[in-house]
Amino acid sequence: MIKDEIKLDTITIALPKGKLFAPSRDLLKKAGCGAQGLSEDSRKLVIKNEEAGLSFVITKPVDLPTYVEYGAADIGVIGKDVLLEEQKDVYELLDLGFGKCRLMLAVPENLRRDKLTDYANLRVATKYPRVAAEFFHGVGIQAEIINLNGSIELAPMVGLSEMIVDIVETGRTLRENKLAEIAAIHTATARLIANRASFKLKSERIHSILDAIRRQLHSD
Ligand code: PRP
Repeated sequence: MIKDEIKLDTITIALPKGKLFAPSRDLLKKAGCGAQGLSEDSRKLVIKNEEAGLSFVITKPVDLPTYVEYGAADIGVIGKDVLLEEQKDVYELLDLGFGKCRLMLAVPENLRRDKLTDYANLRVATKYPRVAAEFFHGVGIQAEIINLNGSIELAPMVGLSEMIVDIVETGRTLRENKLAEIAAIHTATARLIANRASFKLKSERIHSILDAIRRQLHSD
């Protein structure tokens, strides 16, 4: 019984590895959410801050919404691009503003064509098969979608696909690989998400974390 009560009080926060890790950790740290000392290079996958009643898990970005959907984490930080692709049943609580990027259709500069419809019946490599399929369906173009897990820009260079759908942040990767932006599909930023049951059962604690993060975002 006592064990259950302690469990109810602890909030598990999921943070994504990669580009969003450092800004997420820094925001939580500044908001006083016990994230000091967290490192994505750590071999420890669960980091507990018992004094603060917090536990952190660091996951692959694509898996993070699943941890939150199933309640393995109560809340988490993840890019809107991943949420659009994964379509998990979670609450989206707050736009955190950082991690701004755009989901783009891009092609090698020398394959640029006049109209979007000129790109019909080509192959597109992407980490975002659902988003890409919706986009092509929306513009009435047939495309073969090839699902990859990273280094998407490689695909047109070696003839795996003619196009890519990927996130662009600074534009450096596209430039370095001589790819041109053809169409903007979505813009994305980091979001704070919550498990639906946790949001009700641990409402008080989640709201106090949410308020602390909001205050920190306003003071930045
Ligand atoms: C992402 C994306 C691009 C790059 C864009 O890759 O897939 O490759 O960042 O950023 P830029 O516009 O600032 O160059 P990420 O680093 O997440 O790794 P990945 O290639 O393994 O997906």
